[in-house]
Amino acid sequence: MAKETVFFASGERLEFWASGPGAVTISQDDQILWQASALESHPAYYSYHHREAGTVIVEWDRPESFLWAYSYDPAKVAEEGIRLWEFSADKISLRVGKDIDTWLESDPDRPQIHFSPCRHWMNDPVGLCKVGELWHLFYQFHPIGSDWGPMHWGHATSHDLINWLHMPVFLHPEQNLWRLGATGGAFSGNAFRDRDGTLMFFYTERLPAYDLFKGYREVQKIARPDRRIIKAESIVTVLEERPKGVEHDFRDPKVWWDEVNGAYRMVLGASIHGDPAVLLYGSDNLVDWSYLGPLFRAPPSFRLEGARAVECPDFFTVGGKWVLIMGFVGHRDPESGRHNLLYGLVGDFFDDRFVPHSDTLQLLDFGTDFYAMQSFSASGRQIALAWLFNWEFRKPDGSPYSGEMSVPRELYLDELNRICMRPASEFDGKVDRIAVQPIEPLLFPLPDAPIEVRLDGPLEGTSISATQQGRPSFTICVKDGTISVSLPQDDGSIRYEGTLPQASDLRVIYDRGIVEIFADHGVICGTRRSYLDSQPDRLAIRSGSCVSVCRLAST
Ligand code: FRU
Repeated sequence: MAKETVFFASGERLEFWASGPGAVTISQDDQILWQASALESHPAYYSYHHREAGTVIVEWDRPESFLWAYSYDPAKVAEEGIRLWEFSADKISLRVGKDIDTWLESDPDRPQIHFSPCRHWMNDPVGLCKVGELWHLFYQFHPIGSDWGPMHWGHATSHDLINWLHMPVFLHPEQNLWRLGATGGAFSGNAFRDRDGTLMFFYTERLPAYDLFKGYREVQKIARPDRRIIKAESIVTVLEERPKGVEHDFRDPKVWWDEVNGAYRMVLGASIHGDPAVLLYGSDNLVDWSYLGPLFRAPPSFRLEGARAVECPDFFTVGGKWVLIMGFVGHRDPESGRHNLLYGLVGDFFDDRFVPHSDTLQLLDFGTDFYAMQSFSASGRQIALAWLFNWEFRKPDGSPYSGEMSVPRELYLDELNRICMRPASEFDGKVDRIAVQPIEPLLFPLPDAPIEVRLDGPLEGTSISATQQGRPSFTICVKDGTISVSLPQDDGSIRYEGTLPQASDLRVIYDRGIVEIFADHGVICGTRRSYLDSQPDRLAIRSGSCVSVCRLAST
């Protein structure tokens, strides 16, 4: 058995996911404090609560049994975050705070100013909220591998929406799904404050599921946090029955207090007789919910083009209007070949009916790697994050993690009531910009750091090409009123394009494979994630507009 002495604070908790064979013992003064003499053969969650400050001996026999491990002192975790444990054959490497950041930064493939989990799989942002001065990001997390699996809620906090502290896992599936060989677990949902200001989280539990596409059961729950917002302390199921015509997809609640109705309202993503739909529910007490009817049902063309359901519906007010944003899972746009796009509608909401100003859905992002967006109102703005992924391409095998979040964005409407996005003011305020000097007119040497390119003036005819040792890294073109972005992994079968007539502003953020494009005052946005040649060293721009290139560094 390998041995290591570790100091535990009083009350410190060790949490880990492991699978056998193997054993772990924690002892002090020759007394066993905790032991798993035979780890379960399926991955399982284990925890140990240390009572009195002191040094213990941790013994283990197989480092590969440990899939994810950390400890934390509940009294200090809000300031310090978790202490990461990495087991090897003869030692445990412990990292906390800045050491975790330095360790993550040493991964040459990891984006630097976009949030990513320390290890393993992450998808949707969930439960976003600001409590006091602290921003909370929860996320769909699979704690034992870099692929999607039984869902937990990971957690991180930030004072500025840019620099994040990694926190303990907040929410677990209701049973051990690995043992069943099933998927499911604690799916997406939102943070909500009732009229007394009590914070809670609404979310979906997918009960043990054996098929990824059908036949599963999804129920809605409330999780209340402990006072430090570290763990879900009490969980209640509040909605189990689906309305008629709604099959297995019945998830991703977003709940709000509706001033006009003087009652609570909830939207859920679903399908009605096969058409992607958003369902509206009402409640007076947050526990008993009644179905008020469909808020939106997609035209049949979506079903015919593969859409199975709406995921992660977002419904909120901005600029005096109601905005509905939806992801149509499974949908492939026949013209461009892009799939799982996000669409939005702007309109009015009265008598529990949503009346869009137009039936034409606005495409929210032409790039496709901007999915499961969740927005929330804070500091007088509608802030949003999204998951930068589309199932089309994925990180090369062997990567310690998968999934990044977009930069925080702010949503607003323009004078034509179109949904627009721009990086949130926190991003502008907390990220330094250092001008990159060209080596020839419009040819820039690139540092291995995030960059921002800005173009002001006529965009028609523009091209922005980044290369890594001469190989293309990303290319953005504006031609015939269309903006397009291409990456090395593209084979031309899918067209990533947006319409951009007469725009005169373009902003591009690039961070180790992540391209975020904001054009025409944020009406046209395009986001993509590349996994090849993602450290470009040259940027060549052709444009009649005024160009600036800056290197970005978080402060
Ligand atoms: C969207 C989604 C949600 C679901 C979650 C599961 O990416 O499929 O509909 O709640 O991810 O991880």
